[in-house]
Amino acid sequence: GAPIEVDLAPVAEGQVIKVFWRSKPIFISHRTKKEVDEAKNVDVATLPDPETDAQRTKAGHEPWLVVIGICTHLGCIPLAHQGEYGGFFCPCHGSVYDTAGRIRKGPAPKNLVLPPYQFVSDTRIRIG
Ligand code: FES
Repeated sequence: GAPIEVDLAPVAEGQVIKVFWRSKPIFISHRTKKEVDEAKNVDVATLPDPETDAQRTKAGHEPWLVVIGICTHLGCIPLAHQGEYGGFFCPCHGSVYDTAGRIRKGPAPKNLVLPPYQFVSDTRIRIG
């Protein structure tokens, strides 16, 4: 599949949009400062799949989280801004992800997968 470009300018802080890339749902979250702080203020060693927020975002673009919206348990599409960590909640078997898309609770073994992407300007990303 070809890369896609997404204009982030219309995505308000606190908003999550869904786009499709290679037939996969991609969630793009414009995180609030509170959501970013929550993602950073975690003892990574306690996580089932330890990754820092910095490993899951692009330097200089910390508000933006871009993840493949497919639960790493059995492939359902999680719901954004749901679950006790305010990130994503998978209604199929109750996996709970945080505001960095990291698995925190439930049967999913891994964090939500990051697609390959880069910022081509401050308000535009290319996925793929
Ligand atoms: Fe998401 Fe099972 S598919 S918890």
